[in-house]
Amino acid sequence: MQTQSLSSNPSDVDKATAILSAGGLVAFPTETVYGLGADARNGQAVARVYAAKGRPVFNPLIVHVADLDAAQQYAVFDDLALMIAAQFWPGPLSLVLPLAKNHGLSELVTAGLDNVAIRIPQHPVAQALLQRFDGPLAAPSANPSGRISPTNAAHVLGDMSGKIDAVLDGGACNVGLESTILKVDGSGVSLLRAGGVPVEDVEAVLGHSIAMPSDPETPQSPGQLQSHYAPDAQVRLNVSVPKDDEVLLGFGPNDKGATLNLSPTGDLVEAAANLFGHLREMDALAQHNIAVSPIPMSGLGLAINDRLKRAAAPRD
Ligand code: TXA
Ligand code: MG
Repeated sequence: MQTQSLSSNPSDVDKATAILSAGGLVAFPTETVYGLGADARNGQAVARVYAAKGRPVFNPLIVHVADLDAAQQYAVFDDLALMIAAQFWPGPLSLVLPLAKNHGLSELVTAGLDNVAIRIPQHPVAQALLQRFDGPLAAPSANPSGRISPTNAAHVLGDMSGKIDAVLDGGACNVGLESTILKVDGSGVSLLRAGGVPVEDVEAVLGHSIAMPSDPETPQSPGQLQSHYAPDAQVRLNVSVPKDDEVLLGFGPNDKGATLNLSPTGDLVEAAANLFGHLREMDALAQHNIAVSPIPMSGLGLAINDRLKRAAAPRD
C-alpha cells in the first residue's frame, strides 16, 4: 500500500473523507498527537487500525466527533459530564461514559465494554475532517503499539508508511501529550490517564480533588500498559549526572550540558510539546542510552512523568 501525503487544504480534506468513507485509514492531526482515524461504525475499518498498529485487540479506542450533539449519539451524558464537556471541549480531554442506545459503533471500538471514550478535538484540521466526514472517527495515536506517539506528519510517515492509506499534514501538535481521560459515572469523576488537561484544572472546575490513577499493575484504562512510548534506547529517569554511555534530556536552565532540553526556561507546557519529538531525536543517536532530568509533578508534569515512566519501564 502506498501512503498518500495530504495537505490540510479543503480538497485534500475531501480526499481524506472519501478514503474514510470507503473504510480506509487516514492519520490526522489533533492538538494532542496525530490520530490514526477510521470510521468507528465500520468493523473492518477498525480492524485495520488494530492491524496497522499491531495493537492487542482488548484495548478500546477513543471515538472522535465534531461537537456535543454528535457525542450524544454515542454516549450518555449526565449533568456532571455535561458540565465538564462545556468547560473543556473542544480540547485535549476524553470522557469515558455509558454507551448510548442504538449507538451503532463497532464492537471493536469499545472492546465489548458498556462504556465508550469520546473526544471533541480542537485542532482546526481535525475539526474540518470531522465536520466533512460527518461521522464518528475511532482514532488511537498513529504509532505502532507500545512506541512513541507522533507529534508531526513526518513521525507518522516514518512509522506507518505503507500500512495506512494517507496522512493529513497539519503541522506540529501544540499540546504534544495525549488527552486526559476522565471516567464519569454514578460515583463521580475518576482520572484514567493524565494528559493534556492538567488534573488541577479539572479539580478547580469540580471544586474537589479527584483520585489519582490506580496502581499501574491493574490499569483502569485497558491501554495503560506499563511499558509504552518505548524508544529503542534504554531510558533512566530523575538523573542529575548522566553515565558515560548516556545522553541527557534536560529540563530547565541548569541543564547546560544536556544534548536536548525539553524546556530551557523550565516551562512544563513547552516540555510537553517537545517530549515525544525529543525522545525520537535522542533515540536516533545510536549507541547511547537516554538519561532524563527530574521533571516537577505539577500541572502537565504529571502526564510528562507518566509517559517517561512508561518509556523507562522494563520491556517484554
Ligand atoms: O489524545 C489522544 O487521546 C489521542 C488522540 C489521537 O485523540 N488518542 C489516543 O488514543 O491517545 P490511544 O488509543 O493511544 O489511547 C486511548 C486510551 C487507551 O489507554 C485505552 O485503553 C483508553 O484510552 N480507553 C479507550 N476506551 C476506553 C474505555 N471505554 N474505558 C477505559 N479506557 C478506555
Ligand atoms: Mg497511544
